[in-house]
Amino acid sequence: MLETVIAPSLLSADFGRLAEEVRDVVEAGADWIHFDVMDNHYVPNLTVGPLVCEAIRPHTKAVIDVHLMIEPVDSLVPAFAKAGADIITFHCEASRHIDRTLQLIHSEGCKAGLVFNPATPLDYLDYVIDKVDMVLLMSVNPGFGGQSFIESAIDKISAMRAKLDDYEKRTGRAIRLEVDGGIKTTNIARVAEAGADTFVAGSAIYGKKSPAGYKEVIAAMKAAVASVR
Ligand code: DX5
Ligand code: ZN
Repeated sequence: MLETVIAPSLLSADFGRLAEEVRDVVEAGADWIHFDVMDNHYVPNLTVGPLVCEAIRPHTKAVIDVHLMIEPVDSLVPAFAKAGADIITFHCEASRHIDRTLQLIHSEGCKAGLVFNPATPLDYLDYVIDKVDMVLLMSVNPGFGGQSFIESAIDKISAMRAKLDDYEKRTGRAIRLEVDGGIKTTNIARVAEAGADTFVAGSAIYGKKSPAGYKEVIAAMKAAVASVR
């Protein structure tokens, strides 16, 4: 079983003090930094690009988990790799050639992840699973922080867990299962129980607006996950 990862989403951070927000949340116990990239084309919102990733890179040793909600994908992969991304994930529907994009991310020296929207079927994974380091299941429709968790994600997480366990049995290789959207201290245990090991939380953590608050929420999340994993 892979160790639990809590990945605060910077989307809900104070962008006027971004470097400080990164340092504070890692000091508060965050394992990774989740970096949401939106293009007002694949999703109806516009956030940040490689320049901002590069700007935060010197402020933490934590893994930077770049979630690309952009279309096309390939043209920006090298720029994010150079900007210091450790993991780059992209949506099944946003790449014309999923296998090629996975290869490109690896050739740039990053880990690669495939993202599934709430309505995206899991079988997109079947023929590329050997090239995937992490699966990201969306529990909201991508584009905004602060949305409510979509309940059907629970069954989907269980189904993906079964797929990944079966793959690990056959190959000995473990693939991470990340869930993103609407995760709170009140539902994270159910998400963990269904089989997730990596948890993105934006508004639940940064909504607290203070380092003490971040610490409290991250500790509560880790305790809730530990009670079921
Ligand atoms: C949504 C983003 C999420 C979002 C999570 O499109 O990918 O990472 O910021 O925010 P919360 O935890 O507030 O749902
Ligand atoms: Zn995200």
